[in-house]
Amino acid sequence: MTQWLSQPTTIWLTGASSGIGDSLARALLADGHHLIATSRRRETLEALGQGPSGKVTVAPADTTSRDDLARIQDTLDRQHPVQMAILNAGTCEYLDVRRFDADIIENNVRTNLLGTAYSVETVLPALRAARDEGLPARLVIVSSSAWWFPFARAEGYGASKAGLTYFAESLRADLAAEGIGVTVVSPGFVKTPLTDQNDFPMPFLIEADDAAQRIVKGLRQGRNRIDFPKPFTVTLKLLRLLPRRWADALAARMARSEDGASS
Ligand SMILES: NC(=O)c1ccc[n+]([C@@H]2O[C@H](COP(=O)([O-])OP(=O)(O)OC[C@H]3O[C@@H](n4cnc5c(N)ncnc54)[C@H](OP(=O)(O)O)[C@@H]3O)[C@@H](O)[C@H]2O)c1
Repeated sequence: MTQWLSQPTTIWLTGASSGIGDSLARALLADGHHLIATSRRRETLEALGQGPSGKVTVAPADTTSRDDLARIQDTLDRQHPVQMAILNAGTCEYLDVRRFDADIIENNVRTNLLGTAYSVETVLPALRAARDEGLPARLVIVSSSAWWFPFARAEGYGASKAGLTYFAESLRADLAAEGIGVTVVSPGFVKTPLTDQNDFPMPFLIEADDAAQRIVKGLRQGRNRIDFPKPFTVTLKLLRLLPRRWADALAARMARSEDGASS
C-alpha cells in the first residue's frame, strides 16, 4: 500500500477558505506540504499563506465555473508535479417541502456534484503527468455520510452527495488501470460555518481540526474510504439494515419531529 504524505507533496485543495478545508490546509502546511489553495474568497486564501509554515499558491476560483477552472489549470501545470487533489468545496442547502423549490436541488448538485466533476476534469492532466514520471497520484473527494439515511430536508444535499459518492467510486474503477487512486471521505457532523446554520441536533458533532486530523491519518494509511466519526457512521450503517418499512417510518417520524421543532 502506498504511504501517502510521508514526504512533502504538492496538493490542490478546494474549499480551503473555511471549515474542514481551512483545518486541512493548516494541518497539511504544518507537515511541510505545498498547497494550491482554491475557493472563491481570495483574501481568505491569502491569509493562509501568511502562516508560519508551508507554502501556499493562491488560486481563487468558483468550482462551478469551467472558465475559472481553466485558469487554475495553468497554475496546476506550473506547480508540477501535483500528486494529490483534495476536492472539498461544497455547500448544503435544505429544502422546505411546503414551498418546494427545485433551485435548492440544482444548487446542491451544481456545487457538490458538477463542481467536483469540473475540478476532476481540471486536475486529471496534472495527475497523469505525475504518473507518467512514475510518481503516485490520488484524487480525494469529500462527500458525506448524510445520504446513507433519508434525512428530512436533505433531498438536494443528500442527492448531490449520493451522486458524488457513486461518481467517485466509479471513477476509482476506471482510473485503477492508470494507477491513480480515489479516496472518498464521508464525514458525519463537523462544526463549521456550514453546520453552524443548522437548527436541529447534530449527534456526535466533532471539531473541524479533529476532522482534518482523521482525514490526514486516513490518507497516510492509503485508505480508499475515510468515514468518521465511527459512532455516527456505524449507527447509519445499522439503520440501513432495518427492513425498508421500518426505515421509512423512522425517517417520516424524524421529519415530523424536526418540522415541529423548526415551525
Ligand atoms: N460540516 C459538516 O458537518 C460536513 C459533513 C459532511 C460533509 N461535509 C462536506 O465537507 C466539505 C466542506 O464543508 P464545511 O463544513 O467545511 O463547509 P464550509 O465551512 O462552508 O466550507 C465550504 C468551503 O467550500 C468553498 N466553496 C463553496 N462553494 C464553492 C464554489 N462554488 N467554488 C469554490 N469554492 C466553494 C467555500 O469557500 P468560498 O465561500 O470562499 O468559495 C469554503 O471554503 C463540503 O463538501 C461539505 O459538504 C461537511
